Amino acid sequence: MKTSEQVNQIIMTIEQSFKEIMSVQTDADRLLSDAMLYSLNAGGKRIRPILCLEVAHAYGADLETIKPFAFALEMIHTYSLIHDDLPCMDDDDLRRGKPTSHVVYGEDLAILAGDALLNLSAEVMLEAVMHQNGDVKFLRAMHEILKASGASGMILGQVADIKYHDQVINIEKLNFINANKTGKLLTASIVSGALLGGASVADLEKLRKIGYQVGLLFQLVDDVLDVIGNPQKLGKRTQIDEKNNKMTYPKLMGIETTQACIRQYRDEIFETLDTLSIDVKFLKALVDFLATRDF
Ligand code: IPE
Ligand code: IPE
Ligand code: MG
Ligand code: MG
Ligand code: MG
Repeated sequence: MKTSEQVNQIIMTIEQSFKEIMSVQTDADRLLSDAMLYSLNAGGKRIRPILCLEVAHAYGADLETIKPFAFALEMIHTYSLIHDDLPCMDDDDLRRGKPTSHVVYGEDLAILAGDALLNLSAEVMLEAVMHQNGDVKFLRAMHEILKASGASGMILGQVADIKYHDQVINIEKLNFINANKTGKLLTASIVSGALLGGASVADLEKLRKIGYQVGLLFQLVDDVLDVIGNPQKLGKRTQIDEKNNKMTYPKLMGIETTQACIRQYRDEIFETLDTLSIDVKFLKALVDFLATRDF
């Protein structure tokens, strides 16, 4: 199993690389670059790049060539958080232990910093594709990530989240919101790593199922922490879902049933992981962390 020291090493590499990527954006406006880097390097668990790199590694990929995809996933995730926190969305003033982008830079620049991060993610991936002379594995990974972020993925989920707020919705609708707003990018993190590592079609199908389950498990925990979490540990405010009248798992079925659901997803994910052709020890440890985290 990887030690937390090794995970910290991955996180440090990611954060250093963001500085390097931003330092070559020499034509960009200084304030815009500052805003992009402010949110990128504000902290965060870096779950998506870790998933992508670890799955690719498990299938024997050369990690140096994969890194741009890991960076792109974190850039897309970070842009989604900047926009999610805006006053017209969840209206949050604390993220990753720091004031949110619009609090520091204003709403106009926060929106543009998010836009620019999304664009940069595509640039970074396309450069990697060109470097591999258009290798179809790399193209498929890029397509996977961009599709998962868009109008049939994360953005679809965010739209559904807005559309159904103030409404009493059933578990199917709630799962639909969360499988899209949170699950699609987590699934793409796993599946892009597997594509880059040359996984078999059978494994890819199983990993897609695992991605869906990890997405729901992740949001079940996120919703629980919004109710009973410690804002200092989380680095973000709690009771925001209640304030915005969002339907959540604890609201729909109570904290205890939500926690039982988390344990059930964890067990189901382990079962599917055991059927893969790779070493899954680290992935199991990561799923356990996601199921029991308090930040
Ligand atoms: C929070 O994501 C937003 C959701 C998708 C629920 P994370 O909990 O991964 O946030 P960071 O990256 O660690 O800040
Ligand atoms: C955010 O979900 C999902 C995306 C940013 C796509 P939440 O609104 O529940 O995330 P937090 O609680 O603000 O981190
Ligand atoms: Mg939200
Ligand atoms: Mg939010
Ligand atoms: Mg939340």
